[in-house]
Amino acid sequence: MANNPGRLVCLCNHVTAKEIVAVLHAGALSTADVQEFTSAGTGCTRCVREIDAIVENHLANAAKDPQLRFDFEF
Ligand code: FES
Repeated sequence: MANNPGRLVCLCNHVTAKEIVAVLHAGALSTADVQEFTSAGTGCTRCVREIDAIVENHLANAAKDPQLRFDFEF
């Protein structure tokens, strides 16, 4: 399911959508940041397009609600 936050996005490095969103909430601003902090997308790179989509969705929502950018809960 696309909206299941616990689903694995990166099978190579066992990174879930929830973990990607957590680093975005902590201040990551790009797919490169997500890759640096989680290692997602640094193996076969098959998941990079999905990471891009999660990042773009988060940044679009953050533009509407700036508080999303400063939520440090994990
Ligand atoms: S599935 Fe993410 S790097 Fe391979």
